[in-house]
Amino acid sequence: MTTRDDIQANREQQLVERVIRSFGSCADPRLRELMVSLVGHLHAFIRETRLTEREWAAAIDFLTRCGHITDDKRQEFILLSDVLGASMQTITVNDHAKADATEATVFGPFFVENAPGIPLGGNIAGPAAGEPCWVEGRVTDTGGTPLAGARVEVWEADEDGLYDVQYDDDHTAGRAHLFTDEHGHYCFWGVTPTPYPIPHDGPVGQLLEHTGRSPMRAAHLHFMVSHPGHRTLVTHIFVRGGSHLDTDTVFGVKPSLVKDFQRQPAGTPAPGDRVIDGTWTRARFDIVLTPDSSSAP
Ligand code: BEZ
Ligand code: FE
Repeated sequence: MTTRDDIQANREQQLVERVIRSFGSCADPRLRELMVSLVGHLHAFIRETRLTEREWAAAIDFLTRCGHITDDKRQEFILLSDVLGASMQTITVNDHAKADATEATVFGPFFVENAPGIPLGGNIAGPAAGEPCWVEGRVTDTGGTPLAGARVEVWEADEDGLYDVQYDDDHTAGRAHLFTDEHGHYCFWGVTPTPYPIPHDGPVGQLLEHTGRSPMRAAHLHFMVSHPGHRTLVTHIFVRGGSHLDTDTVFGVKPSLVKDFQRQPAGTPAPGDRVIDGTWTRARFDIVLTPDSSSAP
């Protein structure tokens, strides 16, 4: 016997199939695949949760507010993708596990093109306040061969958890690029990273608040490392023992990227004969790039 529930389920299923069929003449097979899958999952979500019209209107209002706050300096949709773990899942799907290659993580919104160049051992901090931090390592390929001349872009927030671009002036701080030497070695001074919140004064911040989630990111230092013939790596290193490692709001922490930032007592001689009054930290990050051709799984 056909019940009312059967009739209802049939109506809902018919609608999904009609919408999916509407993409049948899409000439681009990949676009068709994406749209059919998206429609299938979206309708499954609506049916499974028995979404109300009011809730759907609230969702559209939320997306509208994300659009209104977005401009060339603020990208609320990327923040939304980040806090839903969608950015990190896309990176994970595309960063196919490969033996010793360094893992990737989220790019974030605070990278700036054409950051100043510094020599090996130079300082990226500029006017950024914070405890000095010495970072060094080697860039190699997956066979262990050092990569000379790899471009290493680094950027970080100051001790107040703010990037230079979050201040109301045009100063540059906490960012630079440098190149590895003939042994693949790089080293620079920065500041010891501290935890900070993602911008949370907009709709994504409200979403986090309403769902009882923290906007905080674990303390980290961003890297983008490139070398001809190798896949460009976008990643960060995190401070071992720091807060929010398990609750990083954009799900960016991977255990392999958590590093010791060893605190040195005041008076410890510092690399490059730098004279430092107080404490400082040092961290090591060896980076392994995959060849371009291995980017496919
Ligand atoms: C960041 O690390 O800078 C960041 C990443 C994702 C969202 C907001 C900030
Ligand atoms: Fe960051």
